[in-house]
Amino acid sequence: MMRWISDWWTGGTAVVEAASLRDARRLAQLHGESFHRGWGEGEFEAMLTERNTLVHRLKVGRQLVGFAVSRMAADEAEILSIAVAASHRGRGLSRNLLLTHLGHLAGHGVRKMFLEVEENNQPARRLYERAGFSVAGRRERYYQQPGGEHLNALLMRRDLS
Ligand SMILES: CC(C)(COP(=O)(O)OP(=O)(O)OC[C@H]1O[C@@H](n2cnc3c(N)ncnc32)[C@H](O)[C@@H]1OP(=O)(O)O)[C@@H](O)C(=O)NCCC(=O)NCCS
Repeated sequence: MMRWISDWWTGGTAVVEAASLRDARRLAQLHGESFHRGWGEGEFEAMLTERNTLVHRLKVGRQLVGFAVSRMAADEAEILSIAVAASHRGRGLSRNLLLTHLGHLAGHGVRKMFLEVEENNQPARRLYERAGFSVAGRRERYYQQPGGEHLNALLMRRDLS
């Protein structure tokens, strides 16, 4: 019964799985809606083809509503981007997306995770902190906004085992 209610509420069962080349256009669309400097379809095609990049998609029913992208180097990896469609935020869907993504990275032999997050991005910081990341550094005036404003970045890290 609870499962039925949650499926009804979210529009279907939430599934996290490897993204495929056919997702490139939708991923670029989602990225463009979530970030000032969007990545194009070609950039996603390249990342989906490269062996050192891992891309997962979040589907709710038949809709692709989120993704996570990381780049691996030896036993380290950096989360390059993670997003959930605005229409599906605030329901805790990003947590499953991130934890599944991290599980696959661990399966590829990754032991140390890094990421950068804008200091005022509270939903992202909560997501990462709840997933076991901690602040390892701060970069002043790291991001430049379209209006010219500069924002600080936090460097976060987490060990995988
Ligand atoms: C970051 C993002 C992926 C989170 O996805 P989501 O599915 O909405 O996340 P959740 O619903 O799990 O919420 C994450 C946490 O943020 C909190 N949160 C949500 N909105 C918030 C807000 N406006 N202010 C403060 N906290 C907020 C939630 O309560 C939750 O914390 P909790 O687990 O302690 O309750 C999503 O907001 C997004 O796509 N943002 C745009 C892209 C982006 O900034 N990506 C990260 C780049 S580093």
